[in-house]
Amino acid sequence: MENSRLIIFDTTLRDGEQSPGASMTQEEKLRVARQLERMRVDVIEAGFAAASPGDFSAIRAIAETIGNSTVCSLARANENDIRKAGEAIRPAESRRIHTFIATSPIHMEKKLRMTPDQVVEAAVRAVAMAREYTTDVEFSAEDAVRSDLDFLCRIFDAVIAAGATTINVPDTVGYSIPSVWGDRMRSLIERVRDSDKVIWSTHCHNDLGMAVANSLSAVLAGARQVECTINGLGERAGNASLEEVVMAVKTRSDIFGVETGIDTTQIVPASRLVSQITGYPVQPNKAIVGANAFAHESGIHQDGVLKHRETYEIMRAQDVGWSQNRLVLGKHSGRNAFRNRLQELGIPVASEEAVNAAFARFKELADKKHEIFDEDIQALMSDEGLPAAHEHIKLVSFKFRSETGETPHAELTLSVGGIEKHTEADGGGPVDAALKAIEQVVSSGSELLLYSVNAITTGTDAQGEVTVRLANGGRIVNGQGSDTDIIVASARAYLNALNRLYQGSERLNPQL
Ligand code: KIV
Ligand code: ZN
Repeated sequence: MENSRLIIFDTTLRDGEQSPGASMTQEEKLRVARQLERMRVDVIEAGFAAASPGDFSAIRAIAETIGNSTVCSLARANENDIRKAGEAIRPAESRRIHTFIATSPIHMEKKLRMTPDQVVEAAVRAVAMAREYTTDVEFSAEDAVRSDLDFLCRIFDAVIAAGATTINVPDTVGYSIPSVWGDRMRSLIERVRDSDKVIWSTHCHNDLGMAVANSLSAVLAGARQVECTINGLGERAGNASLEEVVMAVKTRSDIFGVETGIDTTQIVPASRLVSQITGYPVQPNKAIVGANAFAHESGIHQDGVLKHRETYEIMRAQDVGWSQNRLVLGKHSGRNAFRNRLQELGIPVASEEAVNAAFARFKELADKKHEIFDEDIQALMSDEGLPAAHEHIKLVSFKFRSETGETPHAELTLSVGGIEKHTEADGGGPVDAALKAIEQVVSSGSELLLYSVNAITTGTDAQGEVTVRLANGGRIVNGQGSDTDIIVASARAYLNALNRLYQGSERLNPQL
């Protein structure tokens, strides 16, 4: 590979999934993996095969589906993990095992209770075993940031001799700063034997808010793979954000002199999808994918941009997937126009039934909302993620009362397994009343872990997108619902989560 090519290794489905409450179902992981492939990510870390049977099965499904990106599984440096990873990725056209062991004194002594010699031996054995399954083997020295440089050189020499093809240097605890991290990468590349035979990689956490800066510093020092996640999701404060790394090296190619293979127009759709699925909203001022990233508020800025865009914009919104003409369809649009738009937006359609259901909702929405934007369509389709046949509980009709001085009250008719049931309840507010009324019928006893509302587009007729996260009997599910009426959106989101509980499509165990 040319020395100017920067490999983008996405770990949204593995490290990203380690964000509290962000674990995903298999079907959701597949949707994210397809979007990553569409975005032309080089390597998709699909999970950690030994973590749970659910994780194994999701990696297997991704390996069977994805043809244009390398599919990777994480594995600790032990036989069981390597064999599970090897089996899970077997169907992939291009496959990688990513094995790791901690190398810092604190991790070796207190966590692993292993001597440095034992750690080197385990790492070499793991890499050699991984090579039985694939020629593409990555080795990571966990907590490299707090590891002794001489010891890192020793273990990297040994694993390269055993067949590792990518060497990853992680700042596991987000402790470094850019100049130090770049120096560490440069020293390793200079000192490790055969360092020119491998790809050097970096994997930075964001505990001090420097994950992207540290990753970029490593690139300047010679790293040619960056491990990152969509929206910077990940363990604790998260990982380096893919969109920021990719757009930094593209926008400042004069400084970095590298290019990625990423189709940057797929960045915003990927960000939306991951946000919808995990229920992690994107802050409005987030670089690249935040709602305000290309919005100009001050008159001077607006005037400048209207005269000459580049006065205040260093990137073009459409280059990262913000649609230029966001008004797409109206109430007179037909099914074909709707289907075409889905294709243009790269939204995979699970079945004809799903298109029909979404088209019916689109028509309903078009009656209520004058202008329908791409974002509205994306939300409609995310609501249709669960095939109608699997919806055990459906909302038939809804009425609520909210008046100054009166207790909010909701009345709902639900269809539960095909039988209509009427329910009503009072609550602290109309949303509370609606969810209580649903619970009166289903008695799920679920604990509500998260309730969040986001306006999908601008304007007071915007759809509200609601995410709820429920815990029930050790299982955690997310549900989404959208509507111009946020009480209805809330009821839909709650029912969507309950249907997932009934369907058994709970979130897979987060790793470790
Ligand atoms: O942060 C870390 O060190 C990791 C390794 C498994 C690469 O996620
Ligand atoms: Zn990590």
